[in-house]
Amino acid sequence: MEIIIQPSAEAATSVAARIIARLLRDKPNAVLGLATGSTPLSLYRELIALKLDWRKVRTFNLDEYIGISPKHPQSYHSFMWENLFRHVNVAGKNVHIPDGLAKDIPKFCDRYEKKIVAAGGIDLQVLGIGTDGHIGFNEQTSSLASRTRIKTLTPQTLKDNARFFGGEDKVPHHVITMGIGTIMEARQNLLLAFGSKKARAVAEAVEGPLTAMNPASVLQWHPNAKVFLDAASAARLKRGEYYRWVYDHKPAWQQF
Ligand code: PGA
Repeated sequence: MEIIIQPSAEAATSVAARIIARLLRDKPNAVLGLATGSTPLSLYRELIALKLDWRKVRTFNLDEYIGISPKHPQSYHSFMWENLFRHVNVAGKNVHIPDGLAKDIPKFCDRYEKKIVAAGGIDLQVLGIGTDGHIGFNEQTSSLASRTRIKTLTPQTLKDNARFFGGEDKVPHHVITMGIGTIMEARQNLLLAFGSKKARAVAEAVEGPLTAMNPASVLQWHPNAKVFLDAASAARLKRGEYYRWVYDHKPAWQQF
């Protein structure tokens, strides 16, 4: 795992945006795994500002609420079109987001997995982290080998996401999410976490044991995972100074 601590969320986001921009320039038909939530918003703003060519890019989103229409203002379909897709030249047919209204959800999930494989696999997956360590909507105790499937949100996640729905009771309880096994097959994972609310989950994910009680900790087992932090989300790391030194002294040949 590479831990990149920057003074601010903006600075950390810029480093992540540069990595994605380089991928899209090197591989115009790259397959991106995308995330929703507050964290990637500024990343998407930066990517829009970079005016990259998205014509051939294929995208797969991590998750979606079950039971709400793609047109619902809080659906992840709406989120992605509003905050990224409508501002770039991505082709609608290349965008994949789980269908929360699918009639046969297990079958849909199976097809989603097959589409990722048919696209050649995910080159780069963007991840946020829940205050409980979830990635995608893989809540605590999710199988570390799980595939795209239905999950039930925990009371903590319902509480964390109530702000988007105007009340905890309005947040759907069920979701479709890529599994941890699916995420682990991405060639590269970029996890972004900002603010003190994420500090405990980040410290456990990076320096704690690899455990389904903190699903993000599975990234310790991933060969190419980078974690982008601001000072607040990095505050509980025991080796923070070491990670800063490593990044500041990266040999030229090791730059990404
Ligand atoms: P947030 O959500 O970016 O809105 O904090 C992160 C997550 O739940 O993965």
